[in-house]
Amino acid sequence: MSPEVLAFSKEAQAELESILQAYPTKQACLLPVLHLVQREFGYISDPVAEAVAGLLDIPLAVAVEVLTFYTLFARRPQAKYVIQVCRGLSCALLGQEELLVYLKNRLKIKEGEMTPDGLFELKTVECLGGCGESPVVRINETYYELQTIDRLGSVLNELSKGPKREA
Ligand code: FES
Repeated sequence: MSPEVLAFSKEAQAELESILQAYPTKQACLLPVLHLVQREFGYISDPVAEAVAGLLDIPLAVAVEVLTFYTLFARRPQAKYVIQVCRGLSCALLGQEELLVYLKNRLKIKEGEMTPDGLFELKTVECLGGCGESPVVRINETYYELQTIDRLGSVLNELSKGPKREA
């Protein structure tokens, strides 16, 4: 374990301590700690995963299994905007494929790739929990429901106006 790779800000350290106190065992803290780590560092690298496993006294394989199971955890630096297109049944029936084709053509990337300027990254994910408002696209923490190519195009136009990456 290399604890120095978990060099948290003061706020994150306080949050870590409150997570550790809120759960009955260290192992039970894995998911909230991973969320915290991702918020703090932007992604969870191998050395960080190892440090988390050490911190929580769990085998590294368990931490890696959780990290690879949940699509919301990133293992490498992410684009400024991570676009997640829902591929669940409801969205599939209501136009998800057209949205995905549109995004691939507009951004000139495939699923799992990032635009060269680091602005957008494209993923497909399982049900985003908004089936009644399908098709649903999530960009970072924001959910865009009842999406059409026109609506999504407007969202991308707005997002494209900002700086490419946050410092
Ligand atoms: S199937 Fe897309 S939100 Fe549920």
